[in-house]
Amino acid sequence: MVPDRRPADMVRITTPELAQAFIDEQIAAIREQVGDKKVLLALSGGVDSSVVAALLIKAIGNQLVSVHVNHGLLRKGEPEQVIEVFRNQMKANLIYVDATDRFLDKLAGVSDPETKRKIIGGEFIEVFAEEARKLDGIEFLAQGTIWPDILESEDGIKAHHNAGGLPEDMNFDLVEPVKILFKDEVRVIGEQLGLPHGMVYRQPFPGPGLGVRCPGAITRDRLEAVRESDAILREEFAKNGLDEKVWQYFTVVPDFRSTGVKDGKRAFEWLCIVRAVNSVDVMTATAAEIPYDLMQHITERITHEVPGINRVLYDCTPKPTGTVEFE
Ligand code: XMP
Repeated sequence: MVPDRRPADMVRITTPELAQAFIDEQIAAIREQVGDKKVLLALSGGVDSSVVAALLIKAIGNQLVSVHVNHGLLRKGEPEQVIEVFRNQMKANLIYVDATDRFLDKLAGVSDPETKRKIIGGEFIEVFAEEARKLDGIEFLAQGTIWPDILESEDGIKAHHNAGGLPEDMNFDLVEPVKILFKDEVRVIGEQLGLPHGMVYRQPFPGPGLGVRCPGAITRDRLEAVRESDAILREEFAKNGLDEKVWQYFTVVPDFRSTGVKDGKRAFEWLCIVRAVNSVDVMTATAAEIPYDLMQHITERITHEVPGINRVLYDCTPKPTGTVEFE
């Protein structure tokens, strides 16, 4: 049996050997808990849910049903990567739901940040619950809860249930195979399970996704500008070795236009803000120092490749006074 709480003397999982021992232990524990029943998982493609999915696939194969909800606010290439890794490579039983229109229609005209978050969170639960109701014989819900989530929920800092808030009639038993692990350990386990390095070591990404990086009321064209500029920034950071040095980096496209000139003509277009921060615990953060020539190259690419953008600005603000995200 795997303990419910992290034993005080538990050795930190830092090597492939320790990871493999934990994986073997968990596979046995999952099989014992689940038997021949089915398990449901909301697979976002983030580190924790991806590692849980990979672990459960190893333990129970197609008894795991993973649901990937695309709320239309994911980064470029993310839903495709989830499908490629889990359905094509790991042969997972994966349900892919493209709910983009549903989310964007509900969000149309909504500019208050917290209302946007509530709509995204509420709609996510609804879509997930609808998919769950279509399935027969699900008895368990798997979650990527990790040890800091449990500690923080005990301290009253945040509620730890990632897929919490499901309707009351859907009371599944929980399967939480990484709940005694710290984030760095989850990553070591993920690599040992054969997940792509980029998926396991990816930067934090908020649940409401690009929705909080498209300040004010989200429109499809401005959201596309956020997604495309973010993809260019990520590509350039990776090429220049900054992707694993900088804690978190992204672009923001506010609903504001300025005058510029493109192809000899007046261009009244949006501006794109580049945000890159370093942090240890995300309670405080500092703006990362990006080489000036790289910033110029990124500016050149974004202004020429992303429709609707004629300027790029860099956000030098630490947290506090800013937060990491803009909303
Ligand atoms: P802030 O903006 O509060 O962000 O300095 C701190 C960290 O939390 C992430 N973040 C969120 N994550 N749902 C999430 O799952 C959210 O609504 C949310 N808002 C911010 C942010 O990306 C950063 O890593």
